[in-house]
Parts: sequence; structure tokens; C-alpha cells
Amino acid sequence: MVKKIGILTSGGDSPGMNACIRAVVRTAGYHHIEVIGFKSGYEGLIDNNFTVLKHESVSGIIQKGGTILKTARSARFMTEAGLQQAVQNLKAHKLDGFVIIGGDGSFKGAIELSKHIDLHIVGCAGTIDNDLVGTDFTIGYDTAINTVTEALDKIRDTAESHDRVFVVEVMGRDAGLIAMRSAIAGGAEALLVPELKNDLEKLIEKMKGWRKTKSSKIIVVAEGDESGGAFKVAEMIKNKCPEFDLRVSVLGHIQRGGNPTCMERVNASMVGFNAVKALMNGERNKMVGIINKQIVLTPFEKAVKHTEELNKDLEELIEVLSS
Ligand code: F6P
Repeated sequence: MVKKIGILTSGGDSPGMNACIRAVVRTAGYHHIEVIGFKSGYEGLIDNNFTVLKHESVSGIIQKGGTILKTARSARFMTEAGLQQAVQNLKAHKLDGFVIIGGDGSFKGAIELSKHIDLHIVGCAGTIDNDLVGTDFTIGYDTAINTVTEALDKIRDTAESHDRVFVVEVMGRDAGLIAMRSAIAGGAEALLVPELKNDLEKLIEKMKGWRKTKSSKIIVVAEGDESGGAFKVAEMIKNKCPEFDLRVSVLGHIQRGGNPTCMERVNASMVGFNAVKALMNGERNKMVGIINKQIVLTPFEKAVKHTEELNKDLEELIEVLSS
């Protein structure tokens, strides 16, 4: 019998986290389950900083970016003392389940926690990076790629007016998935991502072969790419091709904010709803994801092993369409 659960958001915030919190609270309430929300991720567990979440606590938040519970990358939780304090506080709450919304770091934290306390923990994949195994789209990814696409459209306007080359850096510390989809949607001429062996010499050759009639050229670089980011790439291009009029644009944290898209809100709601159902079914140490429109539960250990492979079709698509 699940009577009381906890919830927190952890790691980088992502649009749709609020929709997910709302779904968890409302689903729990529907089944007469009490919910307490810890503030600022694992920091809130250590400080026992929590709030009771009721139906009205989550009113008017489905459309909002960020997270009403706040979030953090807790360095204290990585210490033995921090972990023990968190465990002690959690035990005192006598919870029957726990929902963690976050990315791979958050789920690694959940794995650690579960070694020290007998608690049913389930995860909701919340990160703009989309770098978790066990879901087609993480919460935040769709909004982020739409934000980047909009930015690329705007950059395209000015690039075209000036006949310029733009190197645009997007987020994705270890993954090029934001770069990949937004590059396709923004009609980018080239893509540099950590998953692909990037040959900068090859890129230069490609640039030299670009049609003279092409008035704008956009190269999308994932921040985690081995080239070292947009400024490094731009410097290299400038050295080898001084004829290009070149500019750099680093999109940064605007990618993490904004109102979640429709798809985001629906997916986040489905995931939150099913996280509570999973706890009611006795599940533990699993991430709730959506694959081919079906809810799928993936053990945390597997979910955090993000694959190095990009979709080959998309890779070929970008090569052909940008030629
Ligand atoms: O949450 C994922 C992410 O946005 C990465 O793409 C990025 O590298 C990182 O977070 C930035 O984190 P922070 O906001 O803590 O600097």
C-alpha cells in the first residue's frame, strides 16, 4: 500500500519538469497518496528542506519552464557525510516511494541512495540533452531543440544578409543529440558532435567546395565535441580559410528555459502519471520512459549508459541535405 511519497528535481532544469511534478502530485492525490517535495534536488534531502504538495500546489504550472521545486547539482550529496544525512532524513519521513526527475547524474545519485535505504525509487527522465537509454525523448529535449531551431532561423537571416559563415555552439556536454536534430531543422551546412569522428580538415575541404551561390552557411557544434567548441572551430577555419566572413554564436542557457512545447507537456504528464503507477505496482530503481508511444521501465544502471551511437539515417540525411 503506497500512502506517502517524496519527489525532487535534480541536475540541470528542463522545460516540462513542472508538468511532470504536476502529474505526479495529481495522480498521487487521485489515489489518496500524500506527496512531499524536497527543494533543490539532493540538497533538500540533506537539509530536510521540504514542502507538502497538494492539488492546488501544482495549479498553473504545466506551461512553465524551470522547476517549482528548484534544482541543484549537489556536491555535498557526493560526500559520505552528505549521503548519510540524506538517508537519515529520508528514513524519518517513512516514505513508501520516491520520484526523482533528472538526468544521468540524478539517477546515479538514486542508485547510491538505494544502496543505503530500503525505498522504492523511480525516475522520470528530465534533461534537455536526451542522453538516457530507455526513452525516445527526455523531458526538456523537444523544447530545447525548438528553441535552438528558432535561434538558427534568426541567425540564418543575418548570415544571409551578410553572406557570412556562422559557427553556432549548442548544449550537450557528452551528447550531440540537440545539435543533430536542430541542425537538420535549421538546415545547417555542417555538424560537429562528440559521437562522430570529426575531421576538421574534411570540414575545411567541404567548406571550400560550398556553392558560390550559397549566401549563408551554418556549422552547428555540440559543446562537448572534441574540437573544443565554437570558438576553437572558428579559429581553425579562419586560419585556413581567411576568405570567409565568420561569426560565432554560443546559445548557452536560453536552451534550458522557456515554456514547454505541447509534446513536452504531454510526454511529461504521461511519465509523471506512470511513475506513480509504477510505485503502486511495486517497481523500484527504474526510469519511466516512452519508446514508440509505449511506457517502458528501464533499470537505472542501464538508463545512465548513454549510447555513443547517433541515428545513422539522420546522419546521412544531414550529409545529403546540406550538400
Ligand atoms: O542539463 C544538461 C546541460 O544543459 C548540458 O547540456 C550542459 O552541459 C550543462 O547542463 C550545463 O550545466 P550548468 O547549468 O550546471 O552549467
